[in-house]
Amino acid sequence: MAQNIYDHPEFFEEFMHLPSQTKGLNGAPEWPSFRSLLPSCLENAMILDLGCGAGWTCRWAASQGAAKILGIDISYKMLKRARDFPQDTRITYQQADLEVVELARDTFDIALSSLALHYVKDLPRIMQQVFASLVEGGTFVFSIEHPIYTAPSNPDWNKKEDAQPLDDYLHDGARTTNWLHDGVIKYHHTFATLINLLHATGFVLEQVAEWGPSAEEVYTSKELANRRNRPRFLLMKAVKPQIM
Ligand SMILES: C[S@@+](CC[C@H](N)C(=O)[O-])C[C@H]1O[C@@H](n2cnc3c(N)ncnc32)[C@H](O)[C@@H]1O
Repeated sequence: MAQNIYDHPEFFEEFMHLPSQTKGLNGAPEWPSFRSLLPSCLENAMILDLGCGAGWTCRWAASQGAAKILGIDISYKMLKRARDFPQDTRITYQQADLEVVELARDTFDIALSSLALHYVKDLPRIMQQVFASLVEGGTFVFSIEHPIYTAPSNPDWNKKEDAQPLDDYLHDGARTTNWLHDGVIKYHHTFATLINLLHATGFVLEQVAEWGPSAEEVYTSKELANRRNRPRFLLMKAVKPQIM
């Protein structure tokens, strides 16, 4: 059973104050990179959103002409927030745990997941589920906290002069962090694990992006300046090949 930290009242309250929640996709600095990995046309597409949270990407997909969007999240509170927005009959929200969810097979043209998969322990299982749920030629785009950020036991900036920049990288597995609240469990996967996993599942990896702020963004936001030195997010685009 997954932790479901987003239903913790204090964590939820803190999370709701982040720019990605107050401003939506415009407050998510990596969104332009994420968007660029998605197919340019979503007209009539069947979309799956894993860890959809308050449904920002679901509503965006609807605005792009998608036929149906299924947003899955474990958190009752996040889904309630999503349902508080004006409803669109094309969007369905489902409360489910990505560790155990059974997805419909050969159904979706695009599966996407924004910053949710680092909460999932059994990544091979959910990758297999996503692969089976896609139609041939379907696209899987996900963002995840970058492995160099999920690796250390303490992901905060270490300002000590003799500090190791990165520890514990090669050990995949759980990390307990104090992000927004004490005791938040995230799962670290090395870059090699992610790539090999996609490959072993049958996906063809098409593109990878490591998000960091542009010089212009750093100029306009002091808060982003300390993100310049290492990528905060890893984004991947993979495709389920067509069988001839
Ligand atoms: C950082 S939020 C991202 C939300 C949304 N994708 C976005 O970009 O705004 C991570 C989301 O993943 C969900 N999540 C975490 N673990 C999950 C699990 N095991 N099953 C389903 N959803 C999960 C959380 O409830 C939360 O809504």
